[in-house]
Amino acid sequence: MRTQVAIIGGGPSGLLLSQLLHQKGIDTVVLEKKTKDYVLGRIRAGILETGFVDLMREAGVSDRMDKECFVHDGAVISFGDTEFSINFKDLTGSHVVVYGQTEVTRDLYDAREALDGKIVFNTDNVTIHGADTDTPFVTYTTDGTEHRIDCDYIAGCDGFHGVSRQTIPLTVRREYEKLYPFGWLGVLSETPPVHEELIYACSDRGFALCSMRNENLSRYYIQCSLSDSPEDWTDAAFWTELKRRIPAKYAERLVTGPSIEKSIAPLRSFVTEPMRWGRLFLCGDAAHIVPPTGAKGLNTAASDIHYLYNGLVQFYEEADREGIDRYSEKALARIWKAERFSWSTTNLLHRFPYQNEFDLKMQRADIDFLRDNREAQSVFAQNYVGLPY
Ligand code: APR
Ligand code: PHB
Repeated sequence: MRTQVAIIGGGPSGLLLSQLLHQKGIDTVVLEKKTKDYVLGRIRAGILETGFVDLMREAGVSDRMDKECFVHDGAVISFGDTEFSINFKDLTGSHVVVYGQTEVTRDLYDAREALDGKIVFNTDNVTIHGADTDTPFVTYTTDGTEHRIDCDYIAGCDGFHGVSRQTIPLTVRREYEKLYPFGWLGVLSETPPVHEELIYACSDRGFALCSMRNENLSRYYIQCSLSDSPEDWTDAAFWTELKRRIPAKYAERLVTGPSIEKSIAPLRSFVTEPMRWGRLFLCGDAAHIVPPTGAKGLNTAASDIHYLYNGLVQFYEEADREGIDRYSEKALARIWKAERFSWSTTNLLHRFPYQNEFDLKMQRADIDFLRDNREAQSVFAQNYVGLPY
């Protein structure tokens, strides 16, 4: 088989790139290790920057999102019983959109299928060949049969555990990582959200987050120990602990119910450099991971896709390599700022096992400064709604 861009990974990054390139008549093939249902079964976050929303619009995949999403002009930060709201609209003129990553991925699959996009599921042994030559190709097997795709370029959108990053020699690749000494226990419940805005809560007992998917689907998280497993937490124990970490007025009106999904995610900051090696480009989780505190996971994947999509269009339409030659530099410049924001909000709102009295006072002073200082709130808001591409 021959295509222009072989895309490894059928998650939001790979699908969005495939859909955008299709709009420009650029041919792609997406290779996905799992089934479509498996990919759609993964519960992930749901806060979209306006840059991501604009990309979905450009891809022609925004109808359902526009109908069903929530537009949020602000978020609440609480510290024990004190709370304040950061008004993104007032501080930046912009907002964020609440629309689950699962729904984003579902809409992208529907759009690819509607345009007969080439997606191969259940691919095994995906291997990248000759990425550092002018004749790259990818091989894979399905049902024991070997297949080969010759291509011009390869987009590695195969997530943190994918094959693409591993293809870049260690002599070229430099990795930066920070692991956090706690995880997030997340629960999805068919209950009405406790508040119309997200609540980021820091308490003596640790972090908590109140988020949502729609009028009757809520998403809650509490900071938990990395040695915990979801089975260690009954629903009752989860709700009790959540109530202890959010201001009393919200705890009193919190509607609880059975969890329809419960999982623990470790927190990690990770970046690999460079994000390009010859004809291979890394995008999204294949190149970087952020702790979810800043809601930057999907949004950093989107900015990668923005830079790569525009670079490839510039190449195919104008034979101009400037965009693809500067892809890694441009993508990383924005990634590191999102990493910094995600790392600083994680430090601001979580309890660390080794914090001493002085550290706690510093954390408190940080929160008080954010509460009382408009410039500090503006910096937070600019990062939360998304820095320009
Ligand atoms: N071959 C083919 N597909 C693969 C391989 C492989 N060797 N390895 C992984 N995949 C597939 C996975 O099954 C998954 O569907 O690649 C896809 C990668 O998707 P994601 O992990 O969702 O990564 P990405 O598309 O970059 O989306 C980033 O996902 O994890 C969240 O917070 C993150 O929101 C961010 C978003
Ligand atoms: C979510 O809705 O799942 C969510 C929202 C904000 C975050 C992280 C996760 O910072």
